[in-house]
Amino acid sequence: MNQRQQLMQEIRCLAAERDAVILAHNYQPDDVQELADLTGDSLGLSIEAAQTHRKTIVFCGVYFMAESAAILSPHKTVLLPRPDAGCPLADCITPEELRSMKIRHPGAPVVTYVNSSAAVKAESDICCTSANAVRVVDSLPEKEVILAPDRNLGRYIASRTDKVCHLWEGCCPVHDQLPLAAFRTAIENHPDAVVLAHPECRPEILALAHHILSTSGMLSHVRQSAGKRFIIATEMGILYRLRRDNPDKEFIIASPSLICRDMKLTTLEDLRRCLETMSPVITVPEEIRLRARRALERMLAVPRGD
Ligand code: 13P
Ligand code: SF4
Repeated sequence: MNQRQQLMQEIRCLAAERDAVILAHNYQPDDVQELADLTGDSLGLSIEAAQTHRKTIVFCGVYFMAESAAILSPHKTVLLPRPDAGCPLADCITPEELRSMKIRHPGAPVVTYVNSSAAVKAESDICCTSANAVRVVDSLPEKEVILAPDRNLGRYIASRTDKVCHLWEGCCPVHDQLPLAAFRTAIENHPDAVVLAHPECRPEILALAHHILSTSGMLSHVRQSAGKRFIIATEMGILYRLRRDNPDKEFIIASPSLICRDMKLTTLEDLRRCLETMSPVITVPEEIRLRARRALERMLAVPRGD
């Protein structure tokens, strides 16, 4: 057994001793995804975090994801191997800024993307993810909605609903900065390829995609597709499972710039240390947690489209 296999085995033993489930987002480093009990998108992992019977949740992802697990599972210990793994999109709006937006649009419910802090979720009526955003907005009776914080996801939703949408002007730097020229070249060089893009990309990128999907949406689309070649416009961590699950298909990343530094912080050594020390534990103040939980649970009650 080599050193890496030994480390993985140690982590698995520690996880069993701690009654821990290891969840990893689809953008995590390959070896972390390989080790995880479950990988998924933000929606799938929040459902898993809410339903697991294990005492400990080790969240391999970024801060807001572990916070969501802590909001939904207050009696479990939620560990985030790298507490410095943040999300610039989640950091682009404060609860105060969202409160002022609500004052500017009285009566419009706030639909907040899960890529947001617990304090911002607490100011929201309902959450959404990239997998359920349009369904969540259409489930609301009001004619006007506030969509925060991602302007690209917001525009995408606005193009698919009859509601009047008021958008917060935030974005994910990784998806927003995908160069259009590189994307066009990839498409021109592979005219037979199916083009998949994440809704955090700019509208001009989405306009060239055949399908606009969350990360897990991409995984299930590719599995079922008769296509043999795919251009992928999202963070490149997704390539690990795309390639593992579809060895007969070819995947071309839309640009080598599609790397989220925060998602790439977690190492196997971090995972071992966090299970050994049972830290760092992510908690949310109870007053914020209860209000944020309402917004997340309201989202989870919206019927799934798959
Ligand atoms: P998904 O919900 O599609 O997994 O995306 C999360 C994310 O951070 C996208 O940048
Ligand atoms: Fe945040 Fe973008 Fe990284 Fe997703 S890819 S975690 S939205 S910075």
